[in-house]
Amino acid sequence: MREGQATAIHRADYTAPAYWIDTVELVFDLDPAKTRVLNKMRLRRNGDVAPQALRLDGEELNLARVLVNGQGTSFKMDGNQLVLENLPEGPEAFDLEIFTTCNPAKNTKLMGLYVSNDSFFTQCEAEGFRRITYFLDRPDVMASYTVTLRADKAKYPVLLSNGNLVEEGALDDGRHFAKWVDPHKKPCYLFALVAGQLVAREQRIRSRAGKDHLLQVFVRPGDLDKTEHAMNSLMASVAWDEARFGLPLDLERFMIVATSDFNMGAMENKGLNIFNTKYVLANQATATDADFSNIESVVGHEYFHNWTGNRVTCQDWFQLSLKEGLTVFRDQEFSQDLAGSPSARAVKRIEDVRVLRTAQFPEDAGPMAHPVRPDSYIEINNFYTVTIYEKGAEVVRMMQTLVGRDGFAQGMKLYFERHDGQAVTCDDFAQAIADANPQSDLARLLPQFKRWYSQAGTPRLHASGQYDAAARSYTLSLTQSCAPTPGQAIKDPFVIPVNLGLLDAQGQALPLQLAHWNQAESGTRTFVLTEASETLTFVNVDSAPVPSILRDFSAPVVLDYAYTDTELLTLLAHDNDPFNRWEAGQRLALARALKAITSDSDLANSPVLDEAYLDAMRQVLADPALDAAFKELVLTLPSETYLAEQLDVVDPQRIHAVREAMREQLATALQTQWQQAWEDNRDTGGYQPDPVSSGRRALAGLALTQLCVAARRSGDTVWPGKAFQRFKDAANMTDRFNALSALVISGHELAAPALSRFHALFKNEALVIDKWFSLQAGAPDHGGHVLPAVRQLMNHPDFNLRNPNRARSVIFSFCSANPGAFHRSDAAGYVFWADRVIELDAINPQVAARLARALDRWKKLAEPYRSAAREAIARVAAKADLSNDVREVVTRALAD
Ligand code: BES
Ligand code: ZN
Repeated sequence: MREGQATAIHRADYTAPAYWIDTVELVFDLDPAKTRVLNKMRLRRNGDVAPQALRLDGEELNLARVLVNGQGTSFKMDGNQLVLENLPEGPEAFDLEIFTTCNPAKNTKLMGLYVSNDSFFTQCEAEGFRRITYFLDRPDVMASYTVTLRADKAKYPVLLSNGNLVEEGALDDGRHFAKWVDPHKKPCYLFALVAGQLVAREQRIRSRAGKDHLLQVFVRPGDLDKTEHAMNSLMASVAWDEARFGLPLDLERFMIVATSDFNMGAMENKGLNIFNTKYVLANQATATDADFSNIESVVGHEYFHNWTGNRVTCQDWFQLSLKEGLTVFRDQEFSQDLAGSPSARAVKRIEDVRVLRTAQFPEDAGPMAHPVRPDSYIEINNFYTVTIYEKGAEVVRMMQTLVGRDGFAQGMKLYFERHDGQAVTCDDFAQAIADANPQSDLARLLPQFKRWYSQAGTPRLHASGQYDAAARSYTLSLTQSCAPTPGQAIKDPFVIPVNLGLLDAQGQALPLQLAHWNQAESGTRTFVLTEASETLTFVNVDSAPVPSILRDFSAPVVLDYAYTDTELLTLLAHDNDPFNRWEAGQRLALARALKAITSDSDLANSPVLDEAYLDAMRQVLADPALDAAFKELVLTLPSETYLAEQLDVVDPQRIHAVREAMREQLATALQTQWQQAWEDNRDTGGYQPDPVSSGRRALAGLALTQLCVAARRSGDTVWPGKAFQRFKDAANMTDRFNALSALVISGHELAAPALSRFHALFKNEALVIDKWFSLQAGAPDHGGHVLPAVRQLMNHPDFNLRNPNRARSVIFSFCSANPGAFHRSDAAGYVFWADRVIELDAINPQVAARLARALDRWKKLAEPYRSAAREAIARVAAKADLSNDVREVVTRALAD
């Protein structure tokens, strides 16, 4: 095996480290082909653990020298570990000096120290530090770092590492140096260095507490005009964490550096966050509203890690959700708080839930299903998943629901009082929140609540209602269940907070009163379900109610309730919970889609959508009281992936055909309203990426697409012409890209000239060229045209498999985001997938393993897709020298 033994690591096997590392002094002589690393550590034995050899992790390093207290020493290699057996006995600290070299220019995995555009960057989470030097590469070993960087001054004028710059100066031969001291102890996964030709936008701020700080955003020269939004987002993040959680910036200097070669989105290295350019660079000419809002949340996310992750870190990688789930929750709350209005908050919530349901629910039902706190893994990189992140965030959100917003802030305070400077577990976090709220349902139910951490799978919540007119009572029966997941056949009941309201048939809110309550309550109430089955009996109910269940999506479950169309239309029109209004619209569309998918009706002759649905959508579009952003969400049909998840047997082509038919019908039947929506929202004035104007641009964009789709049907050329004009005249990327998409999605012949014009305009803007690739690879398939187009795109001079953003823009857009094009009856999509997984694996296993997951759900596929998919996965699995990353994914996919 290329990366040593692929053995599973088990959470139950955790033991404390045999040694502590108190201080680390690193000296780097940076050179692309051969960087020299001198690592002087001060270690001591951990007295709580039986005396044993020191085993240091290392990967792809050339070892030159090992000294203990300045003397040569014996050592041996055991696989990738450097083993030292003759260390000084007793509790006294000793010095260990290790000298190694590595080759950053050849580092295509982008883990450890690597070169991108002639600059040096590092990525150490989760286990990249071992690719820089031999170390105890585990998060519970926290040390103080002093780092000296030496490099050619002309080629690498900027030298950065964590903490404070304490010294810099010239060296011989045109070289120079910089010395950095990090005032905070940290695990090695938070180490970072950057060296290269970079320029910075700078901002000085004064905190609430009166401290001064320097904020810097480093980019390549020429990109400075795209850093204002990232800087604004950073300032907003600093202010928000202080205001909402009382958490201040604990550094004099906080730096963000952008690189175009990055496996992930961004990384929270202490004081020196390293970002994918995609989540830093934006101006109105090159970035869309979605880019602006992603930048805000990613900048926030990495900044918020400074407390949740860095000051308090994870004991081991099984606790990953301790920092990631909590920090996603925090970035979601940050974006909601910045959004302001209730409607804009709901829009953000809907977007987050959409991610959870289209990505996490399938993961939880597939071969890679795992608990929020996994029990074992082979490759930790495969566990940076939507379950750890998004479901983990929902678990934190449920805690907040159970203790209240203020109670949650108190819980956070206690968490930091107890654990600042420590490496802890998910139990420690939940305990702190519960202990700060002793009277809460969370405290009362804590052991059961923690099943959310240990049991995989998405619970189903079955609800049914019974109205007794004579007794004026309404009984709501709630039953929960959870299907088996790999390794977990039987599940115990979860604690499920159910936010509930009742409406009358006219849509008026009804007061809520359980039988034993003295008086009725109005609005939303949270009922906490703990048993497999429970009933709630409401009294003094004047008429048969329509239940609005799981308002604001109060738990990450699938809600089964046999809503009638009438009930859903009532909720869509009147519910005062905007999330459930949107949800009602989705349910109406879903029911119609599923009916058509599972019938064998001829889509050309039997329309999927009926007048009742179309009329409801007309009313939403025309409703002056609704925000444009909300309308756009309601009018967007459930995705093909989401539809597939609702079915036991999936025919991707049928799903694609039905959804396309629905889109066309909506386009044609609502033409007048689409035109109105376009006219009302096409001009949003001077560009601002705020929720109101970006919502209006989103609705205008959808309207334009729908008008072009309708035109394809009728043969009309006016709207495609208008779209082309708009594409040429647009004053911002959102409007321009939406117009281009309208032409591509509707398959109009003007798409080709628009695409080439777009490329010519932006040929020097890598992030825009990514959009250009991804739009084409993700285009709706017409007669199988996308795969040959994708093959051609891979031959384009701008394509580069080694750059993760570019690889994703073509290959992932096709394999993971375009089911109608990818799942071909001739199996050519799967053949392409297997070839790319194998090809990428030799370059960058992390990226390859993510691509490998595109066929996770193959077992649900109908024939001939199912057999063809299995064959493609088996072909990948048969390769002898796969990385552990890809091997784990394909092995799990093929397991029974
Ligand atoms: N700690 C991660 C970055 C990371 C993940 C590094 C996996 C190495 C391996 C960072 O905080 C993160 O979660 N980034 C996300 C974006 C975030 C907004 C959810 C990412 O990179 O996708
Ligand atoms: Zn994170």
